[in-house]
Amino acid sequence: MSTTNGPPSESRRGWLLRILQGSVAVTLAAVFYPVVRFLWPRPATSSGELEVAAPYRVDELRPDAQGKWPSPFNFGGKPCLVIRTPDDEIKAFNAICTHVDCTVEYRAEDGDIFCNCHNGVYDLNGRNVSGPPPRPLEVYKVTLRGESGKEEIIVSRAT
Ligand code: FES
Repeated sequence: MSTTNGPPSESRRGWLLRILQGSVAVTLAAVFYPVVRFLWPRPATSSGELEVAAPYRVDELRPDAQGKWPSPFNFGGKPCLVIRTPDDEIKAFNAICTHVDCTVEYRAEDGDIFCNCHNGVYDLNGRNVSGPPPRPLEVYKVTLRGESGKEEIIVSRAT
């Protein structure tokens, strides 16, 4: 048995070694995980489409108490904007403005998609209608799945 002033015992050395090995393993995992995630193929369907379920269902796609619509979510490394039009259509777009890559937002009250970096405006089909954006937004395919009124929103695009 060791005392607090004597040399560390074998069991204490072993314990410290395991702590050190664990720390090294955690550090390596933290360094290499993002690299592996970047290099690993993204989830894709058998048809080769990238397909992701939105983090909200159809019944949750509405403005909150402050009037803010759900934020874009990560879709294959890019923000995806899902909107519910006044006609109750669910549409999805690449939320990166085609001007200088700001993130666009849905303005239901104005019936458009807006980029507040330079006041770029797109219609609800993603077409650039005013301001500096030179091209339409990329439109994604939307598929609804599940119980009526509470469907899961599946967004996909060809890869
Ligand atoms: S970045 Fe969107 S209008 Fe300029």
